[in-house]
Amino acid sequence: MKVTLSVIKADIGGYVGHSASHPDILAKAGESLAKAKKEGLLIDYYVTKCGDDLQLIMTHQQGEENEKIHKLAWDTFTEGTELAKKLKLYGAGQDLLSDAFSGNIKGMGPGVAEMEFEERKSEPILIFMADKTSSGGWNLPLYKMFADPFNTIGLVIAANMHTGFAFEVHDVKEHKKITLNAPEEIYDLLIFIGAPSRYAIKAVYSRATKDIAAVSSTQRLSLIAGRYVGKDDPVCIVRSQSQFPAVGEVLEPFALPHLVEGWMRGSHHGPLMPVAVEDSTPTRFDGPPRVTAAGFQLADGKLIGPRDMFADKSFDLARQKANEIAEYMRRHGPFEPHRLPLEEMEYTTMPEVAKKLEARFTDLD
Ligand code: F6R
Ligand code: MG
Ligand code: MG
Repeated sequence: MKVTLSVIKADIGGYVGHSASHPDILAKAGESLAKAKKEGLLIDYYVTKCGDDLQLIMTHQQGEENEKIHKLAWDTFTEGTELAKKLKLYGAGQDLLSDAFSGNIKGMGPGVAEMEFEERKSEPILIFMADKTSSGGWNLPLYKMFADPFNTIGLVIAANMHTGFAFEVHDVKEHKKITLNAPEEIYDLLIFIGAPSRYAIKAVYSRATKDIAAVSSTQRLSLIAGRYVGKDDPVCIVRSQSQFPAVGEVLEPFALPHLVEGWMRGSHHGPLMPVAVEDSTPTRFDGPPRVTAAGFQLADGKLIGPRDMFADKSFDLARQKANEIAEYMRRHGPFEPHRLPLEEMEYTTMPEVAKKLEARFTDLD
């Protein structure tokens, strides 16, 4: 049976500040999706949060980029915004960049990751959600999952994974894409994806079966809006087991809290801390950035789960390490590489300050 899994998310208001979502907002979104399920548009749904982001996880048979599904998400966000305004939550409706829905939610602010596939005999799925980071934050973990034998031993010893994976990479600034094959093109791949503020892995495919293996949201809010409106706080869907990496191979990259951009005012690097959903409450200096993982088994499109995958004790050390790295990075204060390079900061006073002091700059010689 062909099923589409759509994960659509938006920050429609924070509680308190940008640190978390309000339970009433989640409950309201749940009502909206329950109605759509009752009416037959959705097979199933699950509503969750990551930090201040509301996450709508939906299964259906309408295919990707379907107007009805996108409208359902948009309406859920706009109704939620009304409630957020009543509660005077912080930044109510901040990710909704348009007043009216026009057929596709892409480019309107919310983040979208969708994949349509033939449901396998057993279909384990992992949905990663991050707060205080941007879409390129998935580059390193996706590379490790699907191209690095030091992470994924299946690439070496499992016959159905040995031919490798193809990576679709998006240039988020120039709106271009390219597909590169691992393992033979990994050096070419890495020159791009090692620069995650510009190049983001959009999708990964099995080269043996052509099956979609992973898909991420690659929207860049600041570029869409042409001004600061918030981080992307991206999501990523990964299929697992059999011809794909095992669940443990998919989760393993997050044992390293790698540095991502997006902490405080979208203008700092910080470690991505893997946490249980309840701990996705970025508080210290509005962070450090968080990632959660919801695990599901699909059963004829029904979402069996979730299991809160990072609630496991084996990620305690990664959390500890993330706190140590956070402490180290914080000591740099307003200096790079804690602070992002000038052109990447989402907040800046640079043009004004430079203009004000223009006359006081003199030539060096
Ligand atoms: C938002 C975020 C925060 C804000 C910061 C300032 O996702 O990460 O760090 O950028 O709290 O927010 P404003 O400008 O809304 O006061
Ligand atoms: Mg926010
Ligand atoms: Mg957020």
